[in-house]
Amino acid sequence: MNDAFIYGYAVEGDNFTDRENETKRLKANFEHGINTLLISNRRIGKTSLVRHVGRMVTPQKALVVYLDIFDCRSEYDFYNKLATAVLQQTSSKIDSILQNAKNFLSRVSPKISVGPDPTSEFSLSLGITPKEYAPDQILNLAENIAKKQKKRIVICIDEFQQIGEFPDSVSVQKRLRGAWQLQQNVSYCLFGSKKHLLTNIFQNKSMPFYQFGDAIYLGVISTEKWVPFICEKFKKRGLHISEDMASKICSEVDNYSSYVQQLAWLVMLHTEHNVTPEIIDVAVNELIAQNSALFMQQTEGLSSYQMNMLRAIAAGVHDGFLSQDVLDSYRLGTKSNVSRIKKVLIDRDLVELRETGLYISDPVFNKWFRRL
Ligand SMILES: Nc1ncnc2c1ncn2[C@@H]1O[C@H](COP(=O)(O)OP(=O)(O)OP(=O)(O)O)[C@@H](O)[C@H]1O
Ligand SMILES: [Mg+2]
Repeated sequence: MNDAFIYGYAVEGDNFTDRENETKRLKANFEHGINTLLISNRRIGKTSLVRHVGRMVTPQKALVVYLDIFDCRSEYDFYNKLATAVLQQTSSKIDSILQNAKNFLSRVSPKISVGPDPTSEFSLSLGITPKEYAPDQILNLAENIAKKQKKRIVICIDEFQQIGEFPDSVSVQKRLRGAWQLQQNVSYCLFGSKKHLLTNIFQNKSMPFYQFGDAIYLGVISTEKWVPFICEKFKKRGLHISEDMASKICSEVDNYSSYVQQLAWLVMLHTEHNVTPEIIDVAVNELIAQNSALFMQQTEGLSSYQMNMLRAIAAGVHDGFLSQDVLDSYRLGTKSNVSRIKKVLIDRDLVELRETGLYISDPVFNKWFRRL
């Protein structure tokens, strides 16, 4: 077992823990052609989970195609990326890739350049221009390949919220959904890192992707699962951490996956033999300091009313913002101001609406903000 804690990018193998139930559900969706919408807060483990399941599904059951569209700025960028990923990841032989392109993308005339070694990566540029692009051909590429190869295909699209930023986004979404919902052999797993934007795409009745598939809300990993994971890594390094101290690491960061690993790593770096509460306190301070530049950036440009509402929430006020008492104590301005302030904070993913009111989304941001 690797004895370091990993944070900041998708994890696998020894660095991946739990998610048994979600793995089972997602794997069943992949194997049975059910579309999935995966939603969670930032850095909880969406990408890790999807990749984990993608590795578990055998090609006999389904071919899993994965693409990340964070850098796509328009519908054309998206089609280029989608077609490239589908061609590349549904076949390992360059001949059949070229054949698929020829058969199923006749109107797109893709340019494909192959490296000197035929087994090596090849680059593919579809060179679609707004004039000649053929969205229907590209959107049906996977379905056609699936039929030809008599295989099910699952297309996983990471950072899917990017679609919402495209020019004429709702028409694009309509076009995608229109084509995808007719496909018999291809299913989709759509997910991303901007919870608020994704929620708007998936849960707004007037949006094309409303109820497109099985919506999975990925929660945090339980303390029960984290504790043995943390203890094992310390043991592997010849150090000792008690179960109590391991669960304190989880509770300090509300079990947020990436922060649990980051904090555990900082604690490990300070430990000579045994973990003490004092070491955890020092590590929490470091965790806040390491993230403070990012938090400053996230609050940049907020008005004083918006900062005041964050202060109220951080101080434990979760609802009742329209009461005169709260308006006065936290200087939120007039009642009519309040809903606009809330919207800005929610749009920026700084706060989220839970059953009992508004909460700061990120537990370490919360700690940082309370210390300002
Ligand atoms: N199953 C897991 N077991 C252990 N650690 C995990 C797990 N899932 C996520 N993590 C931790 O969280 C970090 C972020 O994981 P990942 O990139 O998969 O999250 P994400 O939800 O896709 O993030 P983003 O919102 O930035 O897209 C990992 O680097 C790791 O530290
Ligand atoms: Mg991710």
